[in-house]
Amino acid sequence: MAATSKILFVGGTGYIGKFIVEASAKAGHPTYVLVRESTLSNPAKAPLIDKFKSLGVNLVFGDLYDHESLVKAIKQVDVVISTLGHLQLADQHKLIPAIKEAGTVKRFFPSEFGNDVDRVHAVEPAKSAFAGKAKFRRDVEAAAIPHTFVSSNFFAGFFLPTLSQPGATAPPRDKVVILGDGNPKAVFNKEDDIGAYTIKAVDDPRTLNKILYIRPPANTLSFNDLVSLWEKKIGKTLERVYVPEEQLLKQIQESAPPLNVILAISHSVFVKGDHTNFEIEPSFGVEASALYPDVKYTTVDEYLNQFV
Ligand SMILES: NC(=O)c1ccc[n+]([C@@H]2O[C@H](COP(=O)([O-])OP(=O)(O)OC[C@H]3O[C@@H](n4cnc5c(N)ncnc54)[C@H](OP(=O)(O)O)[C@@H]3O)[C@@H](O)[C@H]2O)c1
Repeated sequence: MAATSKILFVGGTGYIGKFIVEASAKAGHPTYVLVRESTLSNPAKAPLIDKFKSLGVNLVFGDLYDHESLVKAIKQVDVVISTLGHLQLADQHKLIPAIKEAGTVKRFFPSEFGNDVDRVHAVEPAKSAFAGKAKFRRDVEAAAIPHTFVSSNFFAGFFLPTLSQPGATAPPRDKVVILGDGNPKAVFNKEDDIGAYTIKAVDDPRTLNKILYIRPPANTLSFNDLVSLWEKKIGKTLERVYVPEEQLLKQIQESAPPLNVILAISHSVFVKGDHTNFEIEPSFGVEASALYPDVKYTTVDEYLNQFV
């Protein structure tokens, strides 16, 4: 594969997509983003579209629900990265026949960017969401599409600004709620770094048909470690309120969306330890910070400084 594969993004204007699009363009890949006409006429998206244009990104009209538009867009590239959001994931399978028909794709990155969905111990509603992504892995494998599944673990921007306290708008300064005993290790990655690592993997034979785990050592820490780090920064000891698993499971059952989803994912990660409770075996995976030591990732320690 050429070192600068042409990359098409489906979902490139979404939350995580925009970071990976930027990393792609900055790394010199000819970069294409599938956009719906409604996206271009959405004033809220105008600054992002302008930014893409300034980065030299090519906008291609299309829609997940318009097969011909997908085939036409995919035919222009070597690599497809899907960053479709949770509302579109049930229909992500529409990309498979389009990729097969185009016949040009040397690597496909499905919309994953979270837990390794083959190695989770989740309760509903997270359980079904993870199972849907795992089923899609099997469909991609069965279609013999060369792929990389990116297990990016937590997006820093979703969890660190509040230290994962649902409903909060800033990190706690008096009391912190910790799910479980706070000991399993979780992983928090800045979105730009997820972009950089994903793009590094595009032309790398070591990531072909593998899971790319983004698990940098400095970003792998338990909730107790995270709280201690924050306490050191603000020079204050917080009251730690521990929520036993049984109480959390009851809370998940009694909560409405989206809180029940957030709590169920938090249960998988903070109580069951699903980011780190397994070894990455060379037979199925590789770790990004080990593969690409040249990426100077932002550590959780550095990330938290902005909130002090
Ligand atoms: N690890 C974590 O902490 C974490 C957190 C959140 C999400 N995730 C995962 O990250 C992945 C991406 O999620 P996200 O929240 O970044 O997505 P998102 O913000 O919801 O973005 C969805 C994207 O899909 C596009 N889209 C919607 N309908 C489409 C259609 N019919 N045809 C073509 N494009 C369409 C949207 O376009 P518009 O811009 O026009 O709407 C947007 O670009 C998911 O797999 C999700 O589970 C992980």
